[in-house]
Amino acid sequence: MQNLTQQLASCLVVVVLLAFVGGCESWDAVRDGEFKPMVTSEPFGQTEDGQAVELYTLRNKHGMVAKIMTYGALLTELHAYDRDGKLGDVVLGFDSLDGYLKGHPYFGATTGRVANRIANAKFMLNGQEFKLAANNDPHHLHGGDKGLDKRVWKAEPLMRDGAPAVRFKYTSPDGEEGYPGTLDLTVTYTLTNENGLQIDYLATTDKPTPVNLTHHSYFNLAGAGSGDILGHELQLMASRYTPGDETLVPTGQIAPVAGTPFDFTEPKPIGKDLKIVGGDPIGYDLNYVLNSSNGSLSKAAVVRDPKTGRVLEVFTTDIGIQFYTGNFLDGTNTGKGGKVYEQYHGFCLEPQHFPNSINTPKFPSVVLEPGEQYRKTTVYRLTTDAVK
Ligand code: GLA
Repeated sequence: MQNLTQQLASCLVVVVLLAFVGGCESWDAVRDGEFKPMVTSEPFGQTEDGQAVELYTLRNKHGMVAKIMTYGALLTELHAYDRDGKLGDVVLGFDSLDGYLKGHPYFGATTGRVANRIANAKFMLNGQEFKLAANNDPHHLHGGDKGLDKRVWKAEPLMRDGAPAVRFKYTSPDGEEGYPGTLDLTVTYTLTNENGLQIDYLATTDKPTPVNLTHHSYFNLAGAGSGDILGHELQLMASRYTPGDETLVPTGQIAPVAGTPFDFTEPKPIGKDLKIVGGDPIGYDLNYVLNSSNGSLSKAAVVRDPKTGRVLEVFTTDIGIQFYTGNFLDGTNTGKGGKVYEQYHGFCLEPQHFPNSINTPKFPSVVLEPGEQYRKTTVYRLTTDAVK
């Protein structure tokens, strides 16, 4: 009897503890595994107009680390284990805020309101024309001159199921970058117990408006700045793609990848067919139609680096994925540790709706209506090919 009372009492303590942890969204969770899961934050400088920027560090129970800053809700570092148990930072970026402020090709960024291209920087919605910045002349790219990647977001640290997380919020005012409607955005990064960097998106609007958010990390599974990614093996769960014109805007067709250099339905080194894909500069920069399109969280891609054994799995609820091999990287960006980023030094896998959907009635709509919720989840999971 006494035993039972003791057990009940300790259960109560645990329940109270958990309630406290959950209710207060404490920064520290109960120790679970080798490391104590935690979220910390530190000042990371300020923007040109004097806004303070904070850098959040998430560490999960396995010791994996992600760093995300309030400028652009942008992932600056992601430390994952290789097959020998060595941690390495697998995303391109800079050591300080300065590098990001000077301009860069969307390293680690949350891009939107509409990721990718909107042809000729304009669209019609309910009989009205909206003109946008032609920042990828003549097209609009990744939300315009000052998209979501260049805004300072509000951040709140939290724990989700024993995993460290940070929730970013930003309200994009009506008319910002030419888009209609006040858009309330929430982007939550969680470093899960399964070593996944999970990104949950939520948006609501007060006027009909296009929304297509994505994440723009450049991965190099051998470590940022360690050379090119052409030896990485990629598999895409996509047997179709949206062919594009020479300015990378989809033609509106949906075509099978079979028999083309775009076919990654079986694992293949990224560099194998790269020289024959064409493009100027040469390389992959196109949208794939994911096989799974029912809105459930499904595997979209797997990438393995044979050298280090690191494996990246991408899961998403979205219907398309842009695969980009860093073709425009040209050595103008000196990144972390003074490493210069050259062409093909990173690859992006950006889950999203198809580019230019707002001007392509055949493609699934990206218009968010008042009263609706834009919701999506993407997980970048880092494991290794080590035999356990
Ligand atoms: C995207 C585009 C690329 C390029 C990069 C940024 O992934 O598809 O063409 O513009 O962003 O440099």
